[in-house]
Amino acid sequence: MIDINKSRLDKLDGFLSPDRNISLFVKRDDLIHEEVSGNKWRKLKYNIELCQSRKNKGVLTFGGAYSNHLVATAAACKEMGLESIGFVRGDELKENSNDTLKRCVEFGMKLIFISREEYRLKNEKAYQEGLSLDYPNFHIVPEGGANYYGMIGCQEIITEIKEDIDHVFVSQGTATTSCGILLALEPHQQLHVVPALKGYESEAEMRALIGKSGIEPAWTEELLSQVEVLNQYHFGGYGKCTEELFAFMRMVYNQVGFKLDPVYTGKAFFGMFKELENRSYDNSNVLFVHTGGIQGIHGVEQRMKTLIY
Ligand SMILES: Cc1ncc(COP(=O)(O)O)c(C=O)c1O
Repeated sequence: MIDINKSRLDKLDGFLSPDRNISLFVKRDDLIHEEVSGNKWRKLKYNIELCQSRKNKGVLTFGGAYSNHLVATAAACKEMGLESIGFVRGDELKENSNDTLKRCVEFGMKLIFISREEYRLKNEKAYQEGLSLDYPNFHIVPEGGANYYGMIGCQEIITEIKEDIDHVFVSQGTATTSCGILLALEPHQQLHVVPALKGYESEAEMRALIGKSGIEPAWTEELLSQVEVLNQYHFGGYGKCTEELFAFMRMVYNQVGFKLDPVYTGKAFFGMFKELENRSYDNSNVLFVHTGGIQGIHGVEQRMKTLIY
């Protein structure tokens, strides 16, 4: 069962050198649910509530072959008694092409495989109008849950925390989670984002997403001044990883007992660790948001098994 109360706040005593006097906390959203883990439920929660209040049949959404978001949507819809449709990038794929897609089907998701050219149209108004005609009464959610409702759901990651936090570190894909977190921060708190993609235009993406929620441009700029983009921890780009990253993730697991994934959280935790080591965060309270994602390691599953854990 999806249970937000399972997301606890862990304090990692002894992980960092004691003379730095940094209190390191981890928001364990990875514990919310096995499939709808981490930021997935945060992003889906209000989309699903909207479906329920509008009496929609279900959710129609988009994702790549190894999308965490597709599995999470399929599982959440099943649990909430809704139907789900997933438009998958790549018309060469089939329902049994990999474990991620098989899981989607097990949760009752109807998969529709489309070409990369068609996939590129997914956010265009005319394309979405066509989908609404073909699939009436389905709520369309963008890839990665990247909409206003997703962002608002992610605010709760912060509002649930009672500790006084100075710095928040989080991984970034579509920027939905980081924007939600940013909207919930107080002006003295700083957000450090670690994009999983090489060359990702973090600031522009965040500006666009926050802008869509109707926040005035001047306030958006004020909010963005609380953000630091750490764009040097992508390890070669999206889905790429190195032995150094695997070794680091193994070290974290052995020392503190939770797993990271090599696509998002591993890189973000690595980036945070390096920043805390090399720059002065002394005498501060630091929060890492564990956004889950262990499901989505199917692409590197065999290597994960042997090289990481
Ligand atoms: C495990 C995990 N962490 C972080 C992210 C990045 O979140 P966002 O796309 O909201 O920036 C994702 C992608 O959704 C993810 O699957």
